Amino acid sequence: MKETVIVTGATGGMGFAAVDALAAKGCSVIMACRNRAKAEVARSNALSHHPKAEIEISEVDLSSLDSVKSLADSVRQGTVTGLFNNAGIISRDYCLTADGFEKTFAVNYFAPWLLTRLLADKLADGAHIVNMISLTCRYADISVDRLQPSRKDFRQLKTYAASKRALLSFSLEFARRYPQFVVNVADPGVVGTGMIDLGHWYDSIADAIFKPLCKKPENGVKPALHALESEQGVRYFVGKGSHEMDKRYLDSALDSSIWDATEHLLENYL
Ligand SMILES: NC(=O)c1ccc[n+]([C@@H]2O[C@H](COP(=O)([O-])OP(=O)(O)OC[C@H]3O[C@@H](n4cnc5c(N)ncnc54)[C@H](OP(=O)(O)O)[C@@H]3O)[C@@H](O)[C@H]2O)c1
Repeated sequence: MKETVIVTGATGGMGFAAVDALAAKGCSVIMACRNRAKAEVARSNALSHHPKAEIEISEVDLSSLDSVKSLADSVRQGTVTGLFNNAGIISRDYCLTADGFEKTFAVNYFAPWLLTRLLADKLADGAHIVNMISLTCRYADISVDRLQPSRKDFRQLKTYAASKRALLSFSLEFARRYPQFVVNVADPGVVGTGMIDLGHWYDSIADAIFKPLCKKPENGVKPALHALESEQGVRYFVGKGSHEMDKRYLDSALDSSIWDATEHLLENYL
């Protein structure tokens, strides 16, 4: 069967680099993007490199649970062999989505959680699922009480790190509950994309100093691409290889409690 991979957030940065690399390998790609015009430009760009590639666009706004559900509903049973939950944000300010979730958590955690859960009944057996996390996970605390940060608790980087740590916890619990899939996490390192502009006045100064030191998107995405090909699951892909999960992330009781709390919060969409 031809490999068909969904890539979320494929308009730029590492998502686009993934589309380009997967198309080069002969995979069909479904670009799951919120901005169709931007996605069309990215698609044309990838097709100019790989004219025979099969690349389609599916619109999704990951800050809306209805939109995530519509994307999952549009996927045909048994056709998708890979899911790369790549999209992510670092919201500068505290902001709630229309569903009432803090926006960073909504896009980085609740959306991939719901999309992956809804697709679990539709993905081909043995499908690869890769969740894009971050080295900030190691500095994050997560618990059932921290899935919905209040305005008082919100800190741009702390909330981002917690959302990625929650995604890591989900990855481990999903792998336990759905052993028919190969589930891994990928940590790209520090990559020179729009993501590292944190929306502050000093961004341009920081860019001038730090961006030349950052990886290019096509390099930053390599751990995720390796993970999409891996025969082994529950590994942490970083740099050129992968390793077992660090002990600090192994807490099945915590993962299970976070799963249950999330399932409760999203029950109207399941
Ligand atoms: N860059 C780094 O150093 C770094 C480090 C560790 C982890 N990561 C992770 O890597 C992943 C990719 O980030 P990147 O660095 O490539 O950043 P990026 O260039 O900013 O790309 C983010 C992508 O997510 C999409 N997105 C944002 N909000 C969305 C929404 N509500 N609905 C649908 N799509 C949405 C963006 O779409 P639009 O074009 O429409 O905005 C864009 O395509 C993220 O999960 C990020 O957390 C990045």
